[in-house]
Amino acid sequence: MAKAVLSFVCQNCGAAYGRWQGKCEACGEWNTLAEEDPSGAASGPVSLRAKRKGRTFALQSLTGENKEAPRLASAMAELDRVTGGGFVRGSVLLLGGDPGIGKSTLLIQAASMMAKAKHRVVYISGEEAVAQVRLRAERLGLAAAPVQLAAETSVEDIIATLSEGTSPRLVIIDSIQTMWTDTVESAPGTVTQVRASAQALIRFAKRSGAALILVGHVTKDGQIAGPRVVEHMVDAVLSFEGEGSQQFRILRAVKNRFGPTDEIGVFEMTGLGLREVHNPSELFLSERDLGTPGTAVFAGVEGTRPVLVELQALVAPTSLGTPRRAVVGWDPSRLSMVLAVLEAHCGVKLSAHDVYLNVAGGLRIQEPAADLAAAAALVSSLTNAPLPAEAVYFGEVSLSGAVRPVPLMPARLKEAAKLGFARAVLPEMPRGDGAADAGLALHSVGSLVSLVSEIAAKGSKRRSAAAGGG
Ligand code: TYD
Ligand code: MG
Repeated sequence: MAKAVLSFVCQNCGAAYGRWQGKCEACGEWNTLAEEDPSGAASGPVSLRAKRKGRTFALQSLTGENKEAPRLASAMAELDRVTGGGFVRGSVLLLGGDPGIGKSTLLIQAASMMAKAKHRVVYISGEEAVAQVRLRAERLGLAAAPVQLAAETSVEDIIATLSEGTSPRLVIIDSIQTMWTDTVESAPGTVTQVRASAQALIRFAKRSGAALILVGHVTKDGQIAGPRVVEHMVDAVLSFEGEGSQQFRILRAVKNRFGPTDEIGVFEMTGLGLREVHNPSELFLSERDLGTPGTAVFAGVEGTRPVLVELQALVAPTSLGTPRRAVVGWDPSRLSMVLAVLEAHCGVKLSAHDVYLNVAGGLRIQEPAADLAAAAALVSSLTNAPLPAEAVYFGEVSLSGAVRPVPLMPARLKEAAKLGFARAVLPEMPRGDGAADAGLALHSVGSLVSLVSEIAAKGSKRRSAAAGGG
């Protein structure tokens, strides 16, 4: 039997090369190439496999009887919201997230809930010993749940064990990077191993009808590490995110064949595990300075994900010949453009003012959709008129001062509603765009000048009230 030809496979994107090189040309990463058998093929005799003749199968039409995909609800509402109503039988879900974010905690909680509901649930840990998983379950008060537990990493052994007895309803593999299969020669954790292990486990899930959850590690730039390939093989990809310093965690669907991808689930990490947060606005709004002039909440989109973020502006009379313009987290040339439009079309004179704009939380915004929120924050600071705390802003401002529609408006509205906002100031939307059912009061503005006069009117009312009172 001929020895398999080895080649060098990028551990980040899976591209294969004939010789080693420092940089992967496909994804631009450095030092990611490792020697592997790129085919990932079984090492059985080639002569036998080549002789096998294809089997014929019946072709089907698009119409026909289809059973509704049966779902297993987890009894965790925030999790079920993101999966689209529960785990689909025979489907595979990849859960990604930074180390220590709470993936194992989330899954042991979900597993316990489902085991208590009399489903056969198997939790395979490749990273922690059985005692560690038990200890955590005990601390969370879940030790009584009949979850079947093992610390294993051999895919063949796992599949053989799972195939015994009644087939499990839910199988959790924590994590896919620790699994290895005999069928390929590469080391565990390499792209080839991860791909082959995932393939074998996915085949088992489809055959047995069990819902399978794979945990995947995430690299520093937010990709599910190495095996991007796994993302294409699974039915759904969820990512679990959060700031290390903060208690709340957001679960998002990045891909979902059986449900929506614009839903988020919000959790809080407590001493007793993850608590579902049904009304996250309390958490997010508690961080904000309510009623301060110069702040506006922008309903943005990061990639395909909606993100709400606070824009803070300070407009103050300058003491210099040339006024300062400083911006953190946004494009300075877009700020200049918004300032120019405010001057030219809205009668807002800023040439004698310093202008500072900051995106809270260290986020960097790329999109022009932030124009309207930035303009609202600037005018609010200038006129000393606080914006309504329950409103979000988004919209692109053109050089003529018109407010233009932006992509993914329904997703922004949905996120704002989910986070407890009641009003949205936005561009005029085409009818039937799915925005009406977001449950927000919509305030469409066609041009920047109308928004500016509204904010300024409130500011002057406040000032005259203050003057009358004092
Ligand atoms: P874990 O689920 O092990 O993260 P992952 O599997 O994503 O790596 O979570 C570990 C972190 O969560 C750890 O820093 C401690 C914290 N934690 C709590 O604060 N409370 C708890 O009840 C548990 C179980 C963990
Ligand atoms: Mg873990």
